[in-house]
Amino acid sequence: MALFTHKQAGQAVSLPRHVAVIMDGNGRWAQRRALPRTAGHKAGAETFRTIATYCKDLGLDYLTVYAFSTENWKRPQAEVDAIMGLLDQYLHESIEKMARDQIRLKFFGDTTVLSPKLQKLIAETDEITKHITGFQANICLNYGGRDEIVRAARQFARECVEGKCSPDELTETKFPNYLWSAGIPDPELLIRPGGEMRVSNYLLWQIAYSEIYVTDTLWPDFGKEELDKALAWYQTRDRRFGGLSAK
Ligand code: IPE
Ligand code: IPE
Ligand code: MG
Repeated sequence: MALFTHKQAGQAVSLPRHVAVIMDGNGRWAQRRALPRTAGHKAGAETFRTIATYCKDLGLDYLTVYAFSTENWKRPQAEVDAIMGLLDQYLHESIEKMARDQIRLKFFGDTTVLSPKLQKLIAETDEITKHITGFQANICLNYGGRDEIVRAARQFARECVEGKCSPDELTETKFPNYLWSAGIPDPELLIRPGGEMRVSNYLLWQIAYSEIYVTDTLWPDFGKEELDKALAWYQTRDRRFGGLSAK
């Protein structure tokens, strides 16, 4: 499938700078193989590694993935524990690899409620990869879109009370500075494997005008070719932003 790069200006729509993914379908992938759901999460973590490296190689700037939502705590304790254990293991294995592959890792969401061990790993990952420029993968962990917006509003209100700003200064340009994604362009493309036609509290502010690609392929089966397909589909889109045809 032919993809247009950033450099091929003037040809259809160029590649997105930022792709967001709802990494869904791990449980079903495992169930179909008569494996425990945890096996699906493990396979999903591998897919993340492959896709992050591929996004970087394609020349994208940002990949933002949904790894654990503020609602996922409702799952059985054993599954939550298993996911946290896998994250721990995954970060241990990945820090050096990501640094070697020149991938900056950042975390969106309230990580202060995670285990001290996981928090330490997250801080180390941040420290080791923070000098990397060029490609950044954002991992949404204990992340919720509504939670992010409420936190942003709370922070702005706090600054107003402290006399640093006034309510009338808040604009659509300024508000995103209070989000986890401050400074990062909105994703042009949102991909949801697993076939569900919903956004499940993901990046509610940022996806206002994202193109949404839903595929029945489950996340652990989502390989480079699947990403190529999604990007090629994106490049056929007429992004109007409420105006008339952009083409
Ligand atoms: C997504 O896969 C991973 C997390 C939510 C942590 P699921 O575990 O939701 O997989 P399905 O949707 O049950 O197949
Ligand atoms: C969304 O998937 C959250 C993540 C992929 C981390 P869910 O499986 O939790 O979403 P719902 O429950 O199907 O909406
Ligand atoms: Mg799911």
